[in-house]
This record gives sequence, C-alpha cells and structure tokens, in this order.
Amino acid sequence: MFNLEPVGRHHVQLCGTTPCMLRGAEDLKKVCRERIGAEHHVTSDGTFSWIEVECLGACVNAPMVQINYDTYEDLTPEIFAHILEELAAGRPVRPGPQTDRHFSAPAGVPTTLTDPSIFERKWGGEQQEPVLADGAPKPTPADADKGSSTG
Ligand code: FES
Repeated sequence: MFNLEPVGRHHVQLCGTTPCMLRGAEDLKKVCRERIGAEHHVTSDGTFSWIEVECLGACVNAPMVQINYDTYEDLTPEIFAHILEELAAGRPVRPGPQTDRHFSAPAGVPTTLTDPSIFERKWGGEQQEPVLADGAPKPTPADADKGSSTG
C-alpha cells in the first residue's frame, strides 16, 4: 500500500490477478517492460514506473491498470501503449473503460434482463400503499411539498 522507493510521475499499477491475467494482463506487462523497463524501474526522465498488484476491483472490465489515481480498463496492448504515449506527451487521457461500454455495463447491447415483463410485480394481490406503524399513509415527497410555504 505504500511506495517504499521512488516512483515515476505516472505510476502504473498493473493488475495481474486471475480475471485480468485470463484477459491479457501478461500482454500488458510486455508493454510495461518495453516502454518503461523492469518492474520497480523509474524511467530516466522520471515519467513512468510500474508494478504488478493484486486485484484492483475492476475485474469485470479486465484487463486493467491504475495509473496514479485513475483506472484504465478493457485494455489491449495497443490501447495501453497509446495511453502511455499520451501521458508521456502531457495530453489528457480519458480514464475508465477504453471501449464503448458504459462503465461495467455489457459490451455492445444488453443480452440479459431484456424482457420488460420481468420487472412487473407478479407476486399477487394489489400493490399496497406504504403505511406507518399506526396505519396512517406514509407521507410522500409530494405531501412534503404541499405542506411547505415558498411564499
Ligand atoms: S482481477 Fe484485475 S481488477 Fe480484479
């Protein structure tokens, strides 16, 4: 959790845990070795360093890296190398998924839970209005608006 030796201005933490490893982390390590050098090495200009770390919690978007405080996900070696070049040039890079997916939503179009009928209440009876412990109807935000004066 602590850096016990100097790191580069852009410190890459590359996830090598199973989901990322299965999705191409080894290829990302090759990019690190080619562009930055050995693990824990800081480039001569102080721009980059890298280490392999355990799961960074973005497995659904594997493989991924964290660079300083941002994560870059759904990486390919080509995309990752491009990100490093953009950072080296001082250009901003959009963090998060590097594909067209929205955060961790399915890539492409949704393939599950697409039938709207599954979201209808089906467990019988009419929908009950929420009530308080004394049986009075539970106030809604609209009730709160009625009671306020904006005069
Ligand atoms: S295994 Fe890489 S983020 Fe979880």
